[in-house]
Amino acid sequence: MESKTKCIGILTSGGDCPGLNAAIRGIAKAAMQQGTKVIGIQDGFRGLVENRMVPLEDKDVSGILTHGGTFLGSSRDKPHKMAMGGKVMDLTDVAVSNAKKNHIDCLVCLGGNGTQKNAMRLHEAGLDVLTLPKTIDNDVAGTDITFGFDSSMAIATEAIDRLHTTASSHHRAIVCEIMGHKAGWLALGAGIAGGADVILIPEIAYDLDFVVEHLLARRHHNKRFSIIAVAEGAVSKNGKQKEAEAREGLIQEPIASRIAREIQQAADIEVRYTSLGHVQRGGTPTATDRLLCTRMGTKAGELLAKGIYNVMVGVKGDVCDAVPLSEVAGKTKLVPPGHRWLQTAALVDTCMGDTMDF
Ligand code: F6P
Repeated sequence: MESKTKCIGILTSGGDCPGLNAAIRGIAKAAMQQGTKVIGIQDGFRGLVENRMVPLEDKDVSGILTHGGTFLGSSRDKPHKMAMGGKVMDLTDVAVSNAKKNHIDCLVCLGGNGTQKNAMRLHEAGLDVLTLPKTIDNDVAGTDITFGFDSSMAIATEAIDRLHTTASSHHRAIVCEIMGHKAGWLALGAGIAGGADVILIPEIAYDLDFVVEHLLARRHHNKRFSIIAVAEGAVSKNGKQKEAEAREGLIQEPIASRIAREIQQAADIEVRYTSLGHVQRGGTPTATDRLLCTRMGTKAGELLAKGIYNVMVGVKGDVCDAVPLSEVAGKTKLVPPGHRWLQTAALVDTCMGDTMDF
């Protein structure tokens, strides 16, 4: 069957993660096999606006499956609010016209929530798009999982494992800060997988007294170390509003440092803290992510061949399928109250920072 799509442009936008190259490879190989021309767009939407595009050949997407990052480059720029020559401008029309000038039938955008919204805007401005859900935060609606999440969870879990041995040798509590401003999937997943004793996520405002009580109870039961996994967007019950506002500002004490200081002030426990930062976004994707990226990428190829546009490739259970972009853009998938991972954490006596009703 002849492909309904003659030419696609691929861009990667937002924070990078392991698996982007694997996904680009999956899309490009599937598309090229169907005779579709593939253009790589550099540095996300900025490259589209600045018309920085390179035609890709089969050899360009060979040998990249295991490589971290994105060989196309990424940026957090958005067409409707782009800094250019000292001004911030709405360059949506330029983005659409550049895609059309390059005969792109469909723009394939790999990214997180911001990217889904930006792709939707381009669609509304007259360009056909198709998206893949990428982010270590796992917070894109319309899919059970995003690519990059499994790799970051493996990195954060290994870090917690390493913190365990040193915490236990020194009889200390160690606070480990894990990425995730709005959603706590990564801290929750890695926290459970690494056996953290306390897990604090943005969705559950924590009560420091409750956390300290848990740590003291552990000590009382002769458990002389503790690991506290905290998402960077976690907020305390007392200062929920204030902390959320402060986070919008630039300089502030990292949450792991603040929690470590507060625990040490409240109890006679020696505390240290570690922030994993961008280490969580680096390196090679896990086998699970490589498989997911290849499945999502080739599914995108199948949809393009049929001329199905303005959808995101999502996963439900074991099935990869098209979800209308309108059902995804502008939504954030948070950890819902009573989620089964929260129940799992409770059943192994993990403190979630507050009482939980199931
Ligand atoms: O969206 C992915 C993410 O890694 C978040 O978890 C984190 O809060 C943010 O990006 C960091 O962004 P940047 O790399 O721009 O500092």
